[in-house]
Amino acid sequence: MTKELHVRIPATSANLGSGFDAIGLALNLYNDMYFTEDPAADTIAIEVEGEGVGEISTDFDENLVGKSMRAAAVRNQRALPQGGRLRLVNRIPTSRGLGSSSAAIVGGILIGNQLTGGGLSRQDILTLATLIEGHPDNVAPAICGGLAVSVLADGKTLTNSIPIEEGLSFITVSPEIYVSTDMARKALPKTIAYQSAVFNVSRVSYLVSSFIMKRYDTLQYGLEDRLHVPYRLKLIPGGAAVLQAALAAGAAGATISGSGSTLIAFATGCEAAIKDAMIGAFAAQGIRAVGHILKCDNTGAVIL
Ligand code: HSE
Repeated sequence: MTKELHVRIPATSANLGSGFDAIGLALNLYNDMYFTEDPAADTIAIEVEGEGVGEISTDFDENLVGKSMRAAAVRNQRALPQGGRLRLVNRIPTSRGLGSSSAAIVGGILIGNQLTGGGLSRQDILTLATLIEGHPDNVAPAICGGLAVSVLADGKTLTNSIPIEEGLSFITVSPEIYVSTDMARKALPKTIAYQSAVFNVSRVSYLVSSFIMKRYDTLQYGLEDRLHVPYRLKLIPGGAAVLQAALAAGAAGATISGSGSTLIAFATGCEAAIKDAMIGAFAAQGIRAVGHILKCDNTGAVIL
């Protein structure tokens, strides 16, 4: 019997307000992918369990995991097995700003690479995943773990990953509102004022230094953003009230996770109260939401 290949990929929260398209955080909520080769079959059959059942294509050529497996095989100049079974056990909500697409891309590349000789280095995987996703801020933490700070330079994605301590919690609340990244990017202006650029440079620098220094009392200032949050909050009914509710319940900061619709709060206590307050504020708008109290994953995707 052929050995099963198992990979586990963390959820991610990109941007963290001021770090648009540049920073992201890995979270301890995971998708698992299992691949088994079947020499008797001539296609790779996909099964989806959990989040995204009925929404995610099970056609290997359409599925993002399948496409990413193929991309890795092309890079390795080797063919994928003709037949097999790919089981996707999804816990990351789809299209809600928690990195479900990047988990699919990273998991697909890792499986594809393993099946075609393993020639891709971590650096190659980072760069290929960014090429498929279009920006590095979800794929980099999914690969490296921690708070991943990335730049695109010399045709590569260069990432520094900063470990985040257990003492800081991340409360994610995902409403039943789907905001595709595409839709959320179309909501952005084409240009911004020079002062807004300066504002964001100071905020994101302050944010990253707050994490490094483990100084959370003024974290909220580092999360402030003028590039995307003001435009995207309008796509999330009740979003501003939910962020206020998180702060009132004791959060050190709160913002949109990725391009939404999930909102994320940062806390060193009162986690359950913050989660309940955020869910309650969505409920006041007649919107159901699911919450998680999470920690940072400092490892990134693993082959088990
Ligand atoms: N940086 C991306 C965005 C993350 O905000 O559009 C979402 O994929």
